[in-house]
Amino acid sequence: MSTSVQTNSDQAFQRCLSPDCLATYDLGEALTACKQCGELLDVVYDWEHLPIPDTLSQFQSKWSRRNQPLCHSGVWRFHELLPFAPPEKVVTLGEGQTLLHASDGVAQYIGLNRGGLFLQYEGMNPSGSFKDNGMSAAFTHAHTIGAKRAACASTGNTSASLALYCGVSKLMQAVIFIGSGKISYGKLSQALDYGALTIQIAGDFDDAMHRVQQVTEQLGIYLVNSVNPFRLEGQKTIMYRVLEGLDWQTPDWIVVPGGNLGNSSAFGKAFLELHQLGLIDRIPRLAVINAAGADTFYELVENRGLKWNQGRPDRKIIEQYYRELDETKQRASTIASAIEINRPVNLSKCLRAIDVCQGVVREVTDQQILDAKSQVGANGLGCEPASAASVAGTKLLRAEGVISPSDRVVCILTGHQLKDPTATVAYHTSDQNEFDRVLASRGVLQARYANQAIAVANNLDEIVSAIQANN
Ligand code: F0G
Repeated sequence: MSTSVQTNSDQAFQRCLSPDCLATYDLGEALTACKQCGELLDVVYDWEHLPIPDTLSQFQSKWSRRNQPLCHSGVWRFHELLPFAPPEKVVTLGEGQTLLHASDGVAQYIGLNRGGLFLQYEGMNPSGSFKDNGMSAAFTHAHTIGAKRAACASTGNTSASLALYCGVSKLMQAVIFIGSGKISYGKLSQALDYGALTIQIAGDFDDAMHRVQQVTEQLGIYLVNSVNPFRLEGQKTIMYRVLEGLDWQTPDWIVVPGGNLGNSSAFGKAFLELHQLGLIDRIPRLAVINAAGADTFYELVENRGLKWNQGRPDRKIIEQYYRELDETKQRASTIASAIEINRPVNLSKCLRAIDVCQGVVREVTDQQILDAKSQVGANGLGCEPASAASVAGTKLLRAEGVISPSDRVVCILTGHQLKDPTATVAYHTSDQNEFDRVLASRGVLQARYANQAIAVANNLDEIVSAIQANN
């Protein structure tokens, strides 16, 4: 298998998602939407003229060459499946060294058989979330075309990731847009510490996303939000590593939190391509889980019947819903701040993913999210609230009978436990005021699985008896 991917412009290009447009653009253009019709863009490859392995298992041979950065990276190890950049332009920080972890404890919580539940732990990435998979790819594209500044709007993880890639590589300046009071301290601290120019907007993520698109257009800054099609190329590799962790067997379900819907869209594209290339014979089902306080995708798909419809989704359904959100002044609100988004930018791509993967969409409450999160934590890995939506959603689908006890299910844990310590500490606190301030105000009324600290006097006998009483 070739390790050096050289792509020329007719072997990879950008293409409009709409079957009625299909306008194409050169790889050298920095675009986030079709210039003709405004629809999202895909990165498309002429696979027939590119070196593709005969089997996925051939990628494993690269493990023996981990002293080479492109083999070490969990993204670029799969370069042949995202061949849009020459190897010498690739910017990698060793992202994607992540873990597929079988968890019988979480399986039991959900109601799955032993051996049936896997946690894909993306918290192990350099900036602590799955975003680094996509950032390495978008950053590589930005570098390829000579960008000197890159921007994003963020609920925290995208900005942490961009700030990290800029800080380490010194190839670009990071400009990040965040909503006011909307981002957890763990993530904010990363952006500030890594030196990003941080613009805090008096508004929420949806406002910040709208503004960053205007500003990047006006100032010619490279935009790395997941409307950038190269971001999603990097995020496809999360699925390659899941397959690798399962010895190249397709699981029954992939369950992923849905915010801006970039990850779920990337997963759909990954499976579509692998299937078209004959590298897998079965596509897993996909479940996208919204927080109930930010449930646009759930509402549109499950309640209003929005469908991919061969690339022609009924836009009137979307426009009508957004009008209602505006009229009733509804803003996204959830303890899972990473997915506190009402206008997901990858909506149409995610409809395609749902179509390709016979997907379903569900919403879970903040209570369900935090209970599930505590179970992930109690079983050792720990994650931030948004990530636990995948576990809470799996439990719900299991209770509904959509997922059966014998299914093999992979939940994507998108971000590290330390990203949002406030929610975790409030869940486990014995201080009722703190609990009420952070959680009860969001409808979380109980901490069923709280592991409260035991307060004791600074006295040896009391400390010893507190330990003995709790053994
Ligand atoms: N989980 C975490 C930890 C996230 O940070 C995000 C998105 C998601 C899930 C949702 O992923 O957008 O691909 O559906 N965070 C973005 C950010 C929006 O700005 O960091 P998605």
